Amino acid sequence: MSKPSLLEQLGRKKTLAQIQRELDERESGSLVKSLTLLDLTCFGIAAVIGAGIFSTIGTASFDGGPAISILFVITALACLFSALCYAEFASKIPVSGSAYTYSFAAFGEFVAWIIGWNLLMEYAIGNSVLAFAWSEYFMNLVEGVGLQLPSWLCNDHYSCAEAASKLMELTKAGEPANESILRLGEVWNNAPLLMGVRCIIDIPALAINLIITTLVYIGIHESKVVSNAMVFLKLGVILLVIAVGIFYVQPKNWNPFAPNGLEGVFKGIAAVFFAYIGFDAISTTAEECRNPQRDIPRATIMTLILCTVLYIILAFILTGMVSYRELNVQDPLAFVFGKVGLNAMVGIVSVSAVIATASVFLVFQLGQPRIFMSMARDGMLPKSFARIHPRFKTPSFSTIITGLMVALPTVLLSSQVVTDLAAIGTLFAFMLVSAGILVVGRGKVTDENRGASGFHVPYFDGRIWVPLAFVAYTCLLPQLPANHFVLGDWWTMDAFQWDRIPYLFFFGVFGVLTVCSFRYRWSAIPVFGIVVNLYLIAGLGAGNWIRFSVWCAAGIVVYALYSYHNSTFRREREGSERGSRGV
Ligand code: ALA
Repeated sequence: MSKPSLLEQLGRKKTLAQIQRELDERESGSLVKSLTLLDLTCFGIAAVIGAGIFSTIGTASFDGGPAISILFVITALACLFSALCYAEFASKIPVSGSAYTYSFAAFGEFVAWIIGWNLLMEYAIGNSVLAFAWSEYFMNLVEGVGLQLPSWLCNDHYSCAEAASKLMELTKAGEPANESILRLGEVWNNAPLLMGVRCIIDIPALAINLIITTLVYIGIHESKVVSNAMVFLKLGVILLVIAVGIFYVQPKNWNPFAPNGLEGVFKGIAAVFFAYIGFDAISTTAEECRNPQRDIPRATIMTLILCTVLYIILAFILTGMVSYRELNVQDPLAFVFGKVGLNAMVGIVSVSAVIATASVFLVFQLGQPRIFMSMARDGMLPKSFARIHPRFKTPSFSTIITGLMVALPTVLLSSQVVTDLAAIGTLFAFMLVSAGILVVGRGKVTDENRGASGFHVPYFDGRIWVPLAFVAYTCLLPQLPANHFVLGDWWTMDAFQWDRIPYLFFFGVFGVLTVCSFRYRWSAIPVFGIVVNLYLIAGLGAGNWIRFSVWCAAGIVVYALYSYHNSTFRREREGSERGSRGV
């Protein structure tokens, strides 16, 4: 027997039986299986409703206008396709590693590593978004009771620097600046200088990170009761916003519906997608569910449907209460009520936002160390990442590293940049989970797997649906924003159209998937999962693709220098192969 090539080694997959055996051998295999369908749905809502709807939707509405509601529908579809794929995996592989473990079974060690590396973007970088949003709402509350913090201690350095340079440009050109540029520019100009550097730091954002990291470190376990109570609070406030807000809607604000065209709408992709992130966290509880095969798929889909309906209604209320031009704020739900003079509602929304964002923060801050732990158990990260604190019984080292990974972007980046990064990393994971379903065999219904137990992605014949969608998209191309039109002019008078490259890539992949779906009769839903997620990634722009590629490249370097040499799975396989070769 010859030595396997590098490609073969990297692509070796864990079998489902092996994953199950590892689970049985581990202590976590004996976790209490107590979660019911209601608990799981509450957990999903707890992880989903947070900064997205309370905060980042503001800028998205400013860019897209009322038409942002369309983006909520497209994004919900992307999530639904991926959610069905997550549900099938969770029912097949009921262990807590989520997308990381699924990719190990579908694609092998290397892709699993890349996914684990990118889940850092979803959980840790996502928590930086939450920290910024929390800070904004917290400062609302503090100012509401008459306290003040110097502005250079509650804003982020990056946004202020950007605003100051934009302000200078506009002043030179004699053009007016909007309110947010003026405000941030002023923060920059008034900030103290320390060795030539403007001292601007978001202290509340760092403080919430420190508090939650400490809680997670010492082992706070949100009891089901507290977690469920938080969910009812969030839902109650959102329903209240809808019930009260509807009386202040002025339909004239919905006109124009898409003031900046589809381009403006697509600027909000990251923000809107961020609002949906979290339903996938349900699958991380698989080891603690009473009936994961039945309940995880149901809870995932129920969470998604509920949040989609609420989000679409909220988008209409928000853009109906005030003009979209005023929504470039980080606390839009409170802001609109301030605008119509309902100060009591401003208070209620701000208090709930502080609690809602903190609760999502907690879920993510608990999730990230678990993923680190799964990876360290496989030898992909140093063993210290799997270390359990002797007294607190928590993954102590992983928790501290997670805290640092959240703090760093909070100091160095802006809310917009971290939202984009969190979105691209998560979309990528969703895309690979959808692709994983095709790889592990449910892409097609065969006699073998037709009767298999558990949840399966419903089968729609890819020979019909995928080509239909491809033709429809191609026909629509000329109506879509200019950067979609792959056949149009690539060079204008002044520049090369860089932002067409992601759409060209998307078009190519869609074409290849169409041919393969036809040829191999793939199931349409996972294919659509890949297509819609990739489409949204394309919309995040060339700049984010570059940042994301740099991140992935860093991941590959870490893999090459450390994980490849220390992977227990690879070493065990090599050991047994050497044995069978008699070396
Ligand atoms: N979907 C979560 C939020 O909006 C991450 O906060």
